[in-house]
Amino acid sequence: MSNADAVFIAVGTPTRRGDGHADLTYVYAAAEEIARAARTDLLVVTKSTVPVGTGREVARILRQTRPDLTFDVASNPEFLREGNAIDDFMRPDRVIVGIDRSGPDGGNRAQSLIEQLYRPLTAIQAPIVLTDLETAELTKYAANAFLAMKVTFINEMADLCEKVGGNIHDVARGMGLDQRIGSRFLSPGPGYGGSCFPKDTRALTAIAQDAGAPTQLVEATVAINEARKTGMAERIITQAGGTLEGKTVGILGLTFKPDTDDMREAASLPILARLHDAGATLQVFDPEGMDAARPLLPDGVRYCEDALSAAQDADIVVVLTEWNMFRALDPLRLRDAMRGNAIADLRNIWSPDLMREAGFSYQSIGRP
Ligand code: UGA
Repeated sequence: MSNADAVFIAVGTPTRRGDGHADLTYVYAAAEEIARAARTDLLVVTKSTVPVGTGREVARILRQTRPDLTFDVASNPEFLREGNAIDDFMRPDRVIVGIDRSGPDGGNRAQSLIEQLYRPLTAIQAPIVLTDLETAELTKYAANAFLAMKVTFINEMADLCEKVGGNIHDVARGMGLDQRIGSRFLSPGPGYGGSCFPKDTRALTAIAQDAGAPTQLVEATVAINEARKTGMAERIITQAGGTLEGKTVGILGLTFKPDTDDMREAASLPILARLHDAGATLQVFDPEGMDAARPLLPDGVRYCEDALSAAQDADIVVVLTEWNMFRALDPLRLRDAMRGNAIADLRNIWSPDLMREAGFSYQSIGRP
């Protein structure tokens, strides 16, 4: 850092135990370390997802640790998705930069350095939104909470489709073609998971409650999504005839989404815990997530080499993650491997007509 013009803090901000707030221990430790190693005029940029006010606290730590130096502080939240990180970074929809303007030059030096850094992206027309620290910090939470709400909304519409008749994919397509809504993040499923949506929605509700402006939509989203994950297990038990005692359940997919080995807050965790308690023998397969899953899943789970082995002699097969390799499975071979014929496809990866033709008792989300 002794020669650096800018340094980015990109450490984790997990949920703090007890109150839902983000744990800022790592951010503040990084700020202190940076201060000790820094030279004057360093630009310190926070990329980690942090509550409103953290940028100012980083500035305070820097000043306190090194009163001899001048610093600039900026907030530059990240919007990349796991499994798409490089692409999302190289071709962002937008770059958000919040700059502290309270210093002697009004943040001008920081702004020109940031503009220089992002020139390769502005050259491909990525818009840069320049704003203040607090706005940039809040924009990150607002964007994640909105997407989590969008997923939760389509999940509720899918439940409604099941009650009143209707196909959620056509509803989503019909809604999404309205450019004010947009077609992405309207795929129904077993509830959102991962290291971001659950943590950030909880943190936003905590920030908002503390600020005296509770975000009731986000609070409802958090509660609905939690209930959905456990509700999915009951749905599987019902489809299996009301009991899982003595039954074998084949599980396809464990990670919170495909193309990652990440198990954090995956819907599979509460679902499998419940199925296990209900007496099922669980046979699981995930192409990437099994190592990470092992310490998190109940004892006695059988880890299989491929999808067909997980389905072997199963009374019901459950799809929890939409890996492409599952889409490519031959339904007849799947049918032959199983003892029963029930499929709970919680990611809608197969066509209901084709699966019924192949002899399955097939249930998906929000489709007849
Ligand atoms: C999310 C955001 O999409 C990124 O923009 C953000 O930068 C990132 O969090 C972060 O804050 O670091 P990520 O957690 O990698 O990215 O995963 P997503 O692709 O957003 O999926 C999150 C969850 O929502 C998954 O469990 C996924 O299965 C679920 N989901 C997503 C649906 O159920 N339906 C959808 O239509 C989309």
